[in-house]
Amino acid sequence: MQIYLDYSATTPPRQEVITAMQDVLTASWGNPSSLHEWGQRAATLVERARMQVASLINALAESIIFTSGGTEADNLAILGVAQHYRTPQHIVISSVEHSAIAEPVRLLEQWGWDVTRLPVNLHGRVNPIDLENALRPNTVLVSVIYGQSEVGTLQPIHTLGQIARAHGVLFHTDAVQVAGRLPIDVQQLPVDLLSISSHKIYGPQGAGALYVRPDVELVPMMLGGGQELRLRSGTQAVPAIAGFGVAAELAAAELATETPRLIGLRERLFEQLADTRNLIPTGDRLHRLPHHVSFSVVGGGQNVTGKTLVRQLNLAGVGISAGSACHSGKLSPSPILLAMGYSDAIALGGIRLTLGRETTAADVDWTAMVIKQVLERLMPLQLVASR
Ligand SMILES: Cc1ncc(COP(=O)(O)O)c(C=O)c1O
Repeated sequence: MQIYLDYSATTPPRQEVITAMQDVLTASWGNPSSLHEWGQRAATLVERARMQVASLINALAESIIFTSGGTEADNLAILGVAQHYRTPQHIVISSVEHSAIAEPVRLLEQWGWDVTRLPVNLHGRVNPIDLENALRPNTVLVSVIYGQSEVGTLQPIHTLGQIARAHGVLFHTDAVQVAGRLPIDVQQLPVDLLSISSHKIYGPQGAGALYVRPDVELVPMMLGGGQELRLRSGTQAVPAIAGFGVAAELAAAELATETPRLIGLRERLFEQLADTRNLIPTGDRLHRLPHHVSFSVVGGGQNVTGKTLVRQLNLAGVGISAGSACHSGKLSPSPILLAMGYSDAIALGGIRLTLGRETTAADVDWTAMVIKQVLERLMPLQLVASR
């Protein structure tokens, strides 16, 4: 049996997406900037996708800028705002950002910018009062991740956005893990910039979008032919963008049924693993991504880390991840768990199980049983008792 439980890393493109992409590659492969029939056919598909993606977050189509993915959308938000200023200013982020935000902000720091990284509580939540206190006269941008990819915590984005707006400061959120899983309405949400990614919502890899509120001005990172409202030059990846559009439309249509279904499965998995020796739940139980379950393996020292569990589960046919997939490959404590106040030992043990469209109750039950068996084998009771 093969069970994929890593839907936060990426999702399998759905059949409708594959069909749409195949159609583009065979019949609408023109350059959308060309004025002839071939080009206009491709341009029409890009504009349809723009509407489909826009309607997933209740935005106007013209406020959607297509990028190569969530990482580029995040970079464009941070560097696009920052490059407006000739001299270094102040920026506020949280201490649990994805590296697609943390790294460009580190670059700004090297350029002399002041950076405040808001602390989080043990569940990974930012306290809005800390944002209020962090703002300075020269703060030009606040960016806080909406749904944390490693521990699943949702931030109080509405409140944080209101605080930034009350101080006249631009507010960005990385909604890569939230889009398509929870409703997002940018007419209600006080955000100026918001990032999403196609391959997290059953679209193809290589496409993403930055929502840019109409009156917000950004400096482009990519210069050239002036595509995407001059904010992202380069011929659009039409097949990927068309697939992204279809994925967004279907995600929006299924939100009302799929989200409660995922929450039910998430709770089922949490309950089954709740009393498991050597596992502690991480993240916020209440404010949580619908499809996200995370734990830390404890008591096994360096010999039994989150990665050990990932490998053992892989042998049993179950695909999960240790912390964020983007950080895989290096055995250092998770910076996210450290920022949440956990010790190095606990921060080495992080595992993440993320559910999706194809996950069933039987998958959840089987996975819980396999995890218990693996832990039992890796850390038999007497070994733990002798510690
Ligand atoms: C919260 C978050 N932001 C940004 C990204 C990067 O998105 P992409 O893979 O589309 O570049 C990811 C991917 O894991 C993510 O989880």
